[in-house]
Amino acid sequence: METTAAPAVTREVERILRVDHAGEYGAIHIYRAQRFIARRFYPDIVSEFDEMLAHERGHFRRFDEILRRRSIRHCYALKLWALGGLLLGSFAALLGRNAIWVCTYSIESTVLHHLGWQLEFLDLHDREVFDAVQSIQADEEEHRDKGLKYGTSPDAHRCIFWVVRRATEFAIWLSTKL
Ligand SMILES: [Fe+2]
Ligand SMILES: [Fe+2]
Repeated sequence: METTAAPAVTREVERILRVDHAGEYGAIHIYRAQRFIARRFYPDIVSEFDEMLAHERGHFRRFDEILRRRSIRHCYALKLWALGGLLLGSFAALLGRNAIWVCTYSIESTVLHHLGWQLEFLDLHDREVFDAVQSIQADEEEHRDKGLKYGTSPDAHRCIFWVVRRATEFAIWLSTKL
């Protein structure tokens, strides 16, 4: 279904596409940085990041294709999210193996919360974008569950969890404005 709805609905669908596209771009850079550091310090978890990176690249391509086809501009801050993703991913990875997974759990659980309300909205207004968002949900749940399974949450990592959650929420909020 094309976005033939009221302008406010069309704008909201465009915002969702832009945010998700930017989010996937950021996720690619977070996991690239983590994979890079893991290769040197925690080689046993590199294959997990290969798999997650492949998922995030696929998600990005899906949103990128829809944005291009509908002639919707991407988020102006895309390059900033790449840089932010590299910094956040490196920061967490340098704090240790557990921090990597706590960071993953924090990002993915925050993202899934947003996908939830997006799906409720899109279900009523845009079938194609609904299908795109729904298609990434299972992968993001798998990433969140990996983070929960492999990461532990002693006090030091609870702090990382909240810092990453706030950073992710801020990035999502800013992506709706830029
Ligand atoms: Fe993703
Ligand atoms: Fe993910």
